[in-house]
Amino acid sequence: MGQNGPTWSDDIACLVYSHCSSCHRTGGIAPFTLESYQDAQSNGLAMKLAVQSNSMPPWPAASNQGHLGFRKNLTWDEKALLMQWVDQAMPRGDSSSEPPAPSFASNFQIPNPDLVAEFDPYTVPASLATDIYRCFIVNNPLNGTNYLNEIEVIPGNGDAVHHVLLFWDNSGIPAQKDSADPGPGYTSFGGIGSNSAVLVGGWVPGQDKWVAPPGMGFWVPQGGVFVAQIHYPTDAAGKTDSTKVRLKFSPNLTRPYFMSPILDHGGTMTNGPLIIPANQTKTFHSQYTVGQDATIASILPHAHLLCTSMRALAIKPNGDTIPLIDIPQWDFHWQMNYRFKNLIKIPAGTVLHGWATYDNTAFNPNNPNSPPQMVTLGEGTTDEMMLFYFGYTAYQPGDETTVIDPSGHATHLGNCSMSHLSLAEDAHPQSWHPSPNPAHDMWYVHPPVDALFLRITDSMGRTVYAGDPVPSIDVRAWMSGLYIAQMQTKRGTFVVKWRVH
Ligand code: HEC
Repeated sequence: MGQNGPTWSDDIACLVYSHCSSCHRTGGIAPFTLESYQDAQSNGLAMKLAVQSNSMPPWPAASNQGHLGFRKNLTWDEKALLMQWVDQAMPRGDSSSEPPAPSFASNFQIPNPDLVAEFDPYTVPASLATDIYRCFIVNNPLNGTNYLNEIEVIPGNGDAVHHVLLFWDNSGIPAQKDSADPGPGYTSFGGIGSNSAVLVGGWVPGQDKWVAPPGMGFWVPQGGVFVAQIHYPTDAAGKTDSTKVRLKFSPNLTRPYFMSPILDHGGTMTNGPLIIPANQTKTFHSQYTVGQDATIASILPHAHLLCTSMRALAIKPNGDTIPLIDIPQWDFHWQMNYRFKNLIKIPAGTVLHGWATYDNTAFNPNNPNSPPQMVTLGEGTTDEMMLFYFGYTAYQPGDETTVIDPSGHATHLGNCSMSHLSLAEDAHPQSWHPSPNPAHDMWYVHPPVDALFLRITDSMGRTVYAGDPVPSIDVRAWMSGLYIAQMQTKRGTFVVKWRVH
C-alpha cells in the first residue's frame, strides 16, 4: 500500500468490478461502461453522487434491512471509501496489483438444465411511447409432477432486457394471446393476462441463478406452459433480443415451495378498495393472519408507477415483530425478489401486515397522468396494484436455523478485498448514541454533525416522527413500547431501537 488513502488498485477496482460492471459494461443495460480505471475516472463525480444518494447500485430496500440476503447495495464502508477516493482525485495506485476486469462471456451457472428455452428473436418496435412487457411461452415438456428448483435467465441483448418475471400457467390463455399477437410472444403489462398464472421467479441484471431453499422446489404439475415476461424499456426501441431461460427440476423433492401474493389489493386490504383520487396521497394497508406454522424465504413487492413506498412486517402472537421488507422509495423499474438470509418461521396466529403509499399529485415525477387523474386497481400502466408475493412452504422443525446466505452481502469478484476498509471505519465511526433507553420523559437525540433527517416508527411500523434531527423529543405522551429511530446522515443511515415507558 503505497498510498495513505484508497486507490483504484487497492480498493476501488474491486468495488466497481464487483458491484457495478455487471450492468455498466459493453453490451450491458446501463448507459456507460465501468470496466477500467479510465472509465471510473471519467465518471467519478457521477459515481459519487449516485452512491451517496443510494440510487446505485439499484437496490430499493432500505439499508437497515439486515435480514435480507444476496444484498446488492454497498456497505457504509464501501460507500465511504468510494466517496473518499473521488474526493482525493481518484489515485490509481500500483497498477500491477489491480484485479483483472471481469469477463461477462456467457458462462452458464446451471451446467445441466432440464429445460432450456431460447425464445425466437423479437425486435422491439422502432418507436416506443412507453415501456413494453412482452411474454414468451415455452411448453412444459416434463413427464409427471416436478419440482422446479433452479432458474437462470440469460438476456439475449443485455442492452434491451431490463428485467424478467417467470410464470407457470395451465389456463391456455397465454397460447391464445400469443397466436392473436403477431411476432414472437405477446404484449401484456402487469401480469401475463391469466389470473391463474403462478409466479415462479424473477431476474434483474447482475443477479445470479435462483436456487430454491434446500429440499424445496416449485410444484409443477404435468403440462402447462412457462411464460417469461420481459420488460423492454423505451431505450430498447428497435433492438432485437432472444433471451434464454434455463431451468432445473427435481422429481424427488418433498417440500413444495410456493410464491403467492398473500397480502394483496383484494380480500386482505383493510381500507380498500384501491382507489387513488387525483391530487391525493393515500396509504393502503393489508393484513392476513397465518393459519398454520409456515416458513418463508423471500418477499417480492409489486406496485405500479404512483407508488412511492412499500413496507411489510409480521407480528407474532407473542407480540414480537419480524421485519420483512422496507422500500422507502419505491422504484417501479427495479422490482426485486428479496430473499432472506435465513429461513424465517412464521408461527400460526402471526399477523402479516403490508402498506403501500401512492402519490397521485403532480409532484410525483412518475405520475403517468398530467394533470393527475383518478387511478384504480388494474393491470394497465396507468392503473395501480398492491401485492406482496411471499415465497413459502409448510414449516418443519429446524427451518429457523437454516442459513441461506451467510454473508448477506453480494460476493466480490474473485473474492477480491479492499485494502483500506479499516480506514473508512475510522473516518466514519458507525456510532450514534441517543439516550436514555428506556426514555420516560425526554429522549436526547444527540444528532451527529452531518445529520439530515430523523424518522421514528413504532413497533407497528407507523411513523411517529419524521423531520429535522432535533436535539431532544418529549415522549411523555407516547405509548409505551419499542420504537425504531432512523437517523439519515451524509454517510448513511444509522438505526437504533429503544423503549419508551
Ligand atoms: C443492476 C444494474 C446496475 C448496477 C449493478 C449498477 N448500475 Fe448504475 N445504472 C444502471 C442503469 C440501468 C442506469 C440508467 C438509469 C436507470 O435506469 O436507473 C444506471 C445509471 C447510473 C449512473 C447515472 C446517474 C444515475 O444515478 O442514474 C451512475 C453514475 C451509475 N449508474 C453508477 C453506478 C455505480 C457506481 C455502480 C456500482 C457501485 C452501479 N451504477 C451499479 C444499472 C446498474
